[in-house]
Amino acid sequence: MKSIQEYIDANEEKYKEELFELLRIPSVSTSSKNKGDVKKAAEFLVNQFEEIGLDKVTLHETEGHPIVTAEKCPHDDRPTVLVYGHYDVQPSDPDELWKTPPFEPTIKDGRVYARGSSDDKGQSFTHIKSVEAYMKTGTELPVNVKFILEGEEEIGSPHLIPFINDHKDLLSCDMVLISDTAMFGEDQPSITYGLRGLAYMEIKVTGPNRDLHSGVYGGGVENPANLLCEIIAKLKDEDGRIQIPGFYDDVEPLTEEQRTAIHELPFDEEAFKKNLELKEVHGEKGYNTHERTTARPSLDVNGLWGGYQGEGAKTVLPGEAHAKVSMRLVPNQDPKKIAKLFKEYVESIVPDTVVVDVMEHHGGHPVVIDLDFYGLKAAAKAFEDVYEKEVLFSREGGSIPIVADFKKVLGVNSILMGFGLTKDALHSPNESFSLKDFHRGIKTSARFFEVLPDFVE
Ligand code: BES
Ligand code: MN
Ligand code: MN
Repeated sequence: MKSIQEYIDANEEKYKEELFELLRIPSVSTSSKNKGDVKKAAEFLVNQFEEIGLDKVTLHETEGHPIVTAEKCPHDDRPTVLVYGHYDVQPSDPDELWKTPPFEPTIKDGRVYARGSSDDKGQSFTHIKSVEAYMKTGTELPVNVKFILEGEEEIGSPHLIPFINDHKDLLSCDMVLISDTAMFGEDQPSITYGLRGLAYMEIKVTGPNRDLHSGVYGGGVENPANLLCEIIAKLKDEDGRIQIPGFYDDVEPLTEEQRTAIHELPFDEEAFKKNLELKEVHGEKGYNTHERTTARPSLDVNGLWGGYQGEGAKTVLPGEAHAKVSMRLVPNQDPKKIAKLFKEYVESIVPDTVVVDVMEHHGGHPVVIDLDFYGLKAAAKAFEDVYEKEVLFSREGGSIPIVADFKKVLGVNSILMGFGLTKDALHSPNESFSLKDFHRGIKTSARFFEVLPDFVE
């Protein structure tokens, strides 16, 4: 009989082909015209679980996109790991910037290029394939494993939060395992122990009842686009401090110990600049780039529009202007409270010459996971055995809102065992994922299940 790791090696090609099949399905959760594709991806996963021989394989319909669950729980006296991942993806636009089609996986230099290759189809698929290796070699799983895969992560998991509340027994577990983050660098395994939260807002400024001739009316009417720029300019000061009253009230200041832990990481600012072709970095005074992007809050315009965008010059004073603004949050900021403060502040600084609507989109709570948790130690051991390199523990700036809910509702920690890299270009054109890390990810997952019982305290 083959060992687990031998089975994984022998099936490298098959695993790739199956991942590519999943990558061909354009499961863009935000686009209503792709609703059928999102369901197709869910059904693909159901087939995978059935084929592998898991129990209780279920596609749960929701008012949005489906949630897929499955499990294999052979033990009464061993830990249960709940694997979470998302099979929905971000839109592929701007499509013209893709060098190969976003939903036709293409291999180049050992990487697969496709939307969702890293975020999160390729990463979450590693755990399905590691469980397959146990099942197909007839090896009993060393721990209980449950899966929950959702199709709405990229739109803020609106139906997953009520789902976990309603299915506490089905999902009961000792920890959640998630591969949806990045490693610190190439061949540098790392475990993420902090994620930022999110509050996402939209501002609409309405002025005159139509677009106006900017010569006939310019100078006599408040211009919504000008005013929107003034509002945005008042959101931060020159030191990069956010100006919303109360914004920092709940921010837990970084302790010396936390700062030292961040400073000790081999963050390479020159490489960071080079990668983005930046002359200089920028951010809140008093903090370095790695602190700014992982452990301090931030505020950014994500989109800004209004007025004439076409070719040439059309002389027009726009009737309205819009902006989308995201704020990344750190412990103990609350997304609802921050959204409210944002709205109150913006409303307080607009003059009577226009009407301003401030709307709230989805958000999420920040998380920091206790480094003493035994699951993290088991994950580090598994990583080190496969990558043959010491694991780093780092915080990241992105958000996975459900992690805070797993803690709140199920009372469990999450292990963020990312196999991605920052160069994977998540959410950008030409997203890619290293096939070597896909393979090592499957092995790390299998090894994690194997070593976990030894770490139970
Ligand atoms: N996988 C990412 C989150 C992530 C990326 C964490 C890189 C750490 C490093 C996830 O799919 C994502 O994109 N989350 C969104 C939040 C969501 C509410 C849309 C984000 O961070 O913008
Ligand atoms: Mn993701
Ligand atoms: Mn994402």
